[in-house]
Amino acid sequence: MVKANNAYQIDVITGENTYPVYVGEGLLEHCSFVFEQLATRQVLMVSNETVAPLYMDKLLNAMPDVETDCLILKDGEQYKNFTSLQKIYDKLIDGRYHRDSYLIALGGGVVGDITGFAASTYQRGIAYIQIPTTLLAQVDASVGGKTAINHPLGKNMIGSFYQPEAVVIDVNTLRTLPEREFKAGLAEVIKYALLHGGTFFDTLYQQLEEGIDASDIEVLKPLIAKCCRIKADIVRQDEKETGLRALLNLGHTFAHALETLSAYKRWLHGEAVAIGLYCAVLLSVKLGYAKLSLAEKVAHMLSCAGLAYKIPVGIDVEQLCDKMMLDKKIKDKRLQFVLLEAPGACFLNSEVPERLLKETLIEAFEGD
Ligand SMILES: NC(=O)c1ccc[n+]([C@@H]2O[C@H](COP(=O)([O-])OP(=O)(O)OC[C@H]3O[C@@H](n4cnc5c(N)ncnc54)[C@H](O)[C@@H]3O)[C@@H](O)[C@H]2O)c1
Repeated sequence: MVKANNAYQIDVITGENTYPVYVGEGLLEHCSFVFEQLATRQVLMVSNETVAPLYMDKLLNAMPDVETDCLILKDGEQYKNFTSLQKIYDKLIDGRYHRDSYLIALGGGVVGDITGFAASTYQRGIAYIQIPTTLLAQVDASVGGKTAINHPLGKNMIGSFYQPEAVVIDVNTLRTLPEREFKAGLAEVIKYALLHGGTFFDTLYQQLEEGIDASDIEVLKPLIAKCCRIKADIVRQDEKETGLRALLNLGHTFAHALETLSAYKRWLHGEAVAIGLYCAVLLSVKLGYAKLSLAEKVAHMLSCAGLAYKIPVGIDVEQLCDKMMLDKKIKDKRLQFVLLEAPGACFLNSEVPERLLKETLIEAFEGD
């Protein structure tokens, strides 16, 4: 397989297969090398009404010899549901797609998650390729094989672990991403820097101070590749989240509670993660693991990224605490947190006293 020039390649090694993640510029136009092996197979490309007009033709031009049909879903988290899933199944069955067919997910995490889930279940599993077009999906959702749809009673409640055949990340797609979505993706990048530490953390700190935007391709390429490498390394060791992979939930126990409390209307996921990261560091300080200067550093990084990190006025701390107790990551009726001593030194802890949790939430609160 010939790889496009200047693209990073990260191999994700899992129990059942190894697959490449390519990160580069202009890969949509130059990704025919990924599809060479698919030439004789049927492909269904799934995208949404926002992303398809921007990028579908580019991709179709890169795979002229592949028999490809397209399905365009409505845009939005609320469409990550049974109805959209059924549309994919209908198209596959109607088009007589066989077990050797492929699905391609072209879009953000919503399209990626739902297409991955359809692939994992259609005829007991067909192959799929992820082509993520948001920063959040490029650094996180497209790698690692978690697929899901939402149930009316809960987010990501129906899902599977099902790895793609390849992930193709064209950093140029970020140029059309709304700024708010781009910033939300930066929260996940900061999460990876906290998990990994070392020069990655220090470099990101400096880059954020200088300012990163979606046109900074030469900054973004290695940054995205590094996040994918960190995730690949964790997934290799714990594909099904029996331990280590739970570290990727840094900040997420707080974020999920905030999202649920606001019925998923107030924040983008990454924006809630930004507040969650700050709370996680603050809690680590309260418990005596981390220094206060780390909380100040993280707050500074989040502000430089244009992300609010305090719990805003209007959120009831008592209610937030209750929601957290209901988080699905509760183990043996104890809430599990990802805490840290320093960047690169994160660990799981299920022994956080409720009193300290409340104190942390109050301290992270924007009001008096
Ligand atoms: N599978 C996982 O491991 C994992 C991890 C994190 C998040 N997720 C899931 O990912 C979803 C969130 O993903 P997301 O943040 O990418 O949201 P999203 O898929 O809703 O995309 C955000 C918005 O950006 C638009 N968009 C996408 N790419 C664009 C582009 N290049 N130019 C212009 N607009 C573009 C989309 O149409 C949408 O309106 C959630 O459902 C979450 O549960 C999954």
